[in-house]
Amino acid sequence: MHQKIIIEGGRKLKGEVTVSGAKNAALKLMAASIILGDTCELYNVPELTDVYTMTNLLRTLGAEVDYNEEEQKVTINAAEIDNVEAHYDFVSTMRASFIVLGALLGRFHEAKVALPGGCSIGERRIDFHIKGLEALGAQVKIEGGYVIAKAKKLTGSKIYLDRPSVGATENIMLASVLAEGSTILSNAAQEPEIIDLANFLNAMGCDISGAGTSEIIINGVRQRDLNPLSYTTIPDRVEAGTYIAAIIATRGKAVIRNIFPNHLSAVTSKVIEMGGKITVLDPFSIEVSFCGKLNGVNIVTQPYPGFPTDLQSPFISALVQAEGVSIVTENIYENRFRQLGELRRMGADVQQESNKAIIKGVRQLTGAQVIATDLRAGAALIIAGLCADGVSEVKDIYHVDRGYEKIVEKFSNLGANIKRIELDETNLDVKINNIDEPLF
Ligand code: EPZ
Repeated sequence: MHQKIIIEGGRKLKGEVTVSGAKNAALKLMAASIILGDTCELYNVPELTDVYTMTNLLRTLGAEVDYNEEEQKVTINAAEIDNVEAHYDFVSTMRASFIVLGALLGRFHEAKVALPGGCSIGERRIDFHIKGLEALGAQVKIEGGYVIAKAKKLTGSKIYLDRPSVGATENIMLASVLAEGSTILSNAAQEPEIIDLANFLNAMGCDISGAGTSEIIINGVRQRDLNPLSYTTIPDRVEAGTYIAAIIATRGKAVIRNIFPNHLSAVTSKVIEMGGKITVLDPFSIEVSFCGKLNGVNIVTQPYPGFPTDLQSPFISALVQAEGVSIVTENIYENRFRQLGELRRMGADVQQESNKAIIKGVRQLTGAQVIATDLRAGAALIIAGLCADGVSEVKDIYHVDRGYEKIVEKFSNLGANIKRIELDETNLDVKINNIDEPLF
């Protein structure tokens, strides 16, 4: 069923919101359960379409997976995995599936995983993944749209990444935890999700140190020495940052709970530069408030601990209404400004010049019909709708449901006028125009 989100803008967000578990950590922990070959329980796993996709992928490999949505708990028993092929249907809908490559290779010395193509935000190559696996002793070839990796034996190695790729760091970690000897991974990604993966693997008995720095050392262990475990996923810093952007954009005041504030340092610094106030209430909660005028700022996306690429679009939705000119430079992806055309439909004055968005603040956005082109662009358009004068409709909301748990409910609880509408696919317009009850 197609759905869209309808928003009547103009309300300042207030109250509090609780952040869910991190999508980009939970998906990797689920894939890493392949290494164990026993039972693991994962808590704080958000109810997202991507989590269901990973659940189904692990099942096709032969793992038993139970997802208890109410408890936000996934139980995985990977003892009986008997298939090492991740089909294109999974990888094409969710790139994070590609992470099973390292886990399958690490445990079974064999994997066949569909090659992810480019995607709407950029080319997203996998050359560092392949070089890393080859350095561990795997033979890797690409055939019929699949990456096929095999190894008689995996041996620890010194590996340098040309850039700190999150996915390559994770695949190499997973392929090397059961290898013979030590692997030293230099220029590794330092994202909190990498630390979470290392902590999870160490809790099952692996030996990884240095995660969260640019050099990770992985000493191979024997699979039979691993143990079952229960583990809680870290909070979603990108979801938290999205709500922070929304609170600032609507000039509101609200508390954000279940976060690790230090994961958001680059983001909260920008909020302060924009004229916002951040108060740390306790180790897991902050209050975000805004008073006075909203200043334009420059943002440059970088690997962690720099400003995250995943939050540039939500912040652009705040900056389009800020005083003066802001420049947002995107350094991670080639094509992550696709929402700009939609924002212009809402009255924003924003132009793209190569990898920069040049934003001239306007007084007021106006509600319009817009289309979400990817997950974060969708969130950005919802934020713009919350600020705009009048009613906005955000279509193709399935992108947003991949990464934001209960987004409509959470914004409603913050006082927004927002609802989700199911469309009759056979006659979309008639259903919307003839809606009986008033939208708000
Ligand atoms: C992860 O993607 C996240 N996805 C992305 O989140 C996030 O934007 C990204 O890290 C950067 O923080 C998941 O965790 C599932 P990369 P990943 O490998 O691992 C280039 C979201 O909205 N590169 O660090 O794919 C690549 O083309 C998503 O939740 C190579 O050139 O990111 C890209 O330009 C979107 N060769 C850059 O590095 C390689 O072999 C960063 O990619 C690998 C990557």
